[in-house]
Amino acid sequence: QKLARQPENAKTENLKAHTADATGESMTTNTGLAINDDQNSLKAGDRGPSLLEDFILREKITHFDHERIPERVVHARGSGAHGIFKAYGNVSKATKAKFLLDTERETPVFVRFSTVAGSKGSTDLARDVRGFAVRFYTEEGNFDLVGNNMPVFFIQDAMKFPDLIHAVKPEPDNEIPQAASAHDTFWDFISLTPESAHMIMWAMSDRAIPRSLRMMEGFGVHTFRFINEAGKASFVKFHWKPLLGVHAVAWDEAQNISGKDSDFHRRDLWDAIESGSFPEWELGVQIIPEEDEFKFDFDLLDPTKLVPEELVPVERIGKMTLNRNPDNFFAETEQVAFHLGHIVPGIDFSNDPLLQGRLFSYTDTQLSRLGGPNFQEIPINRPLNAVHNNQRDGHMRQMINKGKTSYGPNSLGNNDPQQVKEADGGFVSYQERIEARKTRARNKSFFDHFSQASLFFNSQSQPEKNHIIDALTFELGKVKTVAVRERMLGVLLQIDTALAKMVADGLGLQVPEGPVLNQNIPADGDPADYAPVKGKS
Ligand code: HEM
Repeated sequence: QKLARQPENAKTENLKAHTADATGESMTTNTGLAINDDQNSLKAGDRGPSLLEDFILREKITHFDHERIPERVVHARGSGAHGIFKAYGNVSKATKAKFLLDTERETPVFVRFSTVAGSKGSTDLARDVRGFAVRFYTEEGNFDLVGNNMPVFFIQDAMKFPDLIHAVKPEPDNEIPQAASAHDTFWDFISLTPESAHMIMWAMSDRAIPRSLRMMEGFGVHTFRFINEAGKASFVKFHWKPLLGVHAVAWDEAQNISGKDSDFHRRDLWDAIESGSFPEWELGVQIIPEEDEFKFDFDLLDPTKLVPEELVPVERIGKMTLNRNPDNFFAETEQVAFHLGHIVPGIDFSNDPLLQGRLFSYTDTQLSRLGGPNFQEIPINRPLNAVHNNQRDGHMRQMINKGKTSYGPNSLGNNDPQQVKEADGGFVSYQERIEARKTRARNKSFFDHFSQASLFFNSQSQPEKNHIIDALTFELGKVKTVAVRERMLGVLLQIDTALAKMVADGLGLQVPEGPVLNQNIPADGDPADYAPVKGKS
C-alpha cells in the first residue's frame, strides 16, 4: 500500500487494470488451476527421480528461465518514477501542444534517469552522462522528451554513434572497465574526434557526478521545433531546472560511495518520494524565431553546441513533480520504451543529423529488447487515449480487433480507423522547404569544435576547473597507450593552454606541438579552409 501522500494520476489509475495483488489469494498455475504444493516436485517415491509429468514444476521453472530480457544497449542502469506536469500557460504564442497550454490539466509523466555506459547492475556514482527521459501521457498521445543532464553531445552525426558506444563500453576482450570511461578505447576515439571537445569538458566536470538525481538539470540537447496554432514554426531547446538546485559530489566521495552503496542515487530518489519529499523541476524553453536561424556563430542543428542563455533566455513554462514510486521495477522502469520520435501536434523535429538518426534507432532497438512489434501494448507504454489503426497481429498481440477490414481505403469496415483531418487536430509534419543535393558532407558551420569548449571551461570557478583538470589527469592516467594520452593533450591545447599544461604535468608528459586532426574535412575539401582554432587561454 502506497502512502496516501503518493497520489494517483490518470496513468497510474490506468495501470491498475494490469496490476495484480495476490494477498490472501490461493496460488494457481498460469492456466488457473489451484496448486496445493508449490514447494515439492512430483517424484517416483519420496526418494525417487522427478517425473517429467510434473507440469507444475515445469511451468514454474520454465517461466523463471525466461525472466530476463536484454538490457538496454546504452542507458542500461536506470531508476523510474511517476509524477505530474502542470503548464504555466505562457507559451501559446509558440506552440499549440495542448499539454503545454492548459493550466488546469495535470498531465501524468513517467521519468527514467540513467547512466549511459554501465550495465544494469553497475554503480550509480560512475563518472558518466545521466539520461533524463520524460514521458508525458498527454490527451493527444505520448510525448517523450528523451534528454540528458548535459546540454550537448559527443558527436554531430548519428553515423558515429555505434563507434562512440563501442569505444566507451567495456573493452571487447576482457569486458573491463565496468561503468567507467577511464580506458584506452574511449580516449582513443575521443582524441580522434575533435567534435567531442565540448562534451568532454562537461563530462569531466562536476556535472558527471551528481549528488542526487533530484539535483540535476535536464536538456533535450537537439534543437526541436514548436508549431503554433497559426502554423508558424520556431526553433526550441528544452531544459529541466531542478528546484533543489544543481549539486555534485567530489570524485573521492563518488568513489567511496560506489564502494559502499552502488544504489546511492536510486535509493535517494526512492526514499525522497517514499517520504513525501517530492522532487520538482521546471520545464524551460529557449525559443528562437525561424528568421534567426543563421544569426549565431554556430549551427542550431549542431548538437555539440548550446545556445548561450545570455543570448536566448530560458523561459519557464511548467512544473513537473515526481510523487509516486513504481509498483514493479520490471513492468514500469524496465519495460518503458522512450523514443524522441513520440511527439504531439505543436512539436516537430529539426534537421540535426544526430536527432534524425535517433528517430530510427529507438524503435529498432526496442523491437529486439521488448520482443517484437507489440511493445506499445505493454501497460507502461500505452497512451491514455485509445489506439486505432490497421496494424495487426505479431508476437504477443493483446488487442482483439473486431471486423473484417484491416486495410484502407475500404467500404466494408465497421471499425475502419477514422481518418482524422488536419482540421480535427491530426498530426501534420511541418512543411519545411528543402532544396538540396544528396551528400555526406557536413556544412562548414559545424566545424568550430573548440570555442564553446573553451567557453565552458572558462565559465567554471577555480575549484570547478581544478576538478576538470583532476578528472582528466585521473582518466588519462588509466590510459596505457602513451600516444593516445599525447593526442588528447593536443586536443586540450585547442581548448585551453593552461588546462593542457596542468594535465600534461599531472601525467608527466609534454604538451605536443601542432594542430589536432579534423575529421570533418570532406573528401573534396581543402584542409586549409578547415584548420582548427589554435590554442586559446
Ligand atoms: C537510450 C540510441 C543519442 C538519450 C538509448 C537506447 C538507444 C539509443 C538504442 C536504448 C533504448 C531502449 O533500449 O529502450 C541513441 C542513438 C543516438 C543517441 C543512436 C545518437 C545517434 C542520444 C542523445 C541523448 C540520448 C543525444 C540525449 C539527448 C537517451 C536516453 C536513453 C537512451 C535518456 C534512455 C532512455 C530510457 O531511460 O529508457 N539511446 N541515442 N541518446 N538515449 Fe540515446
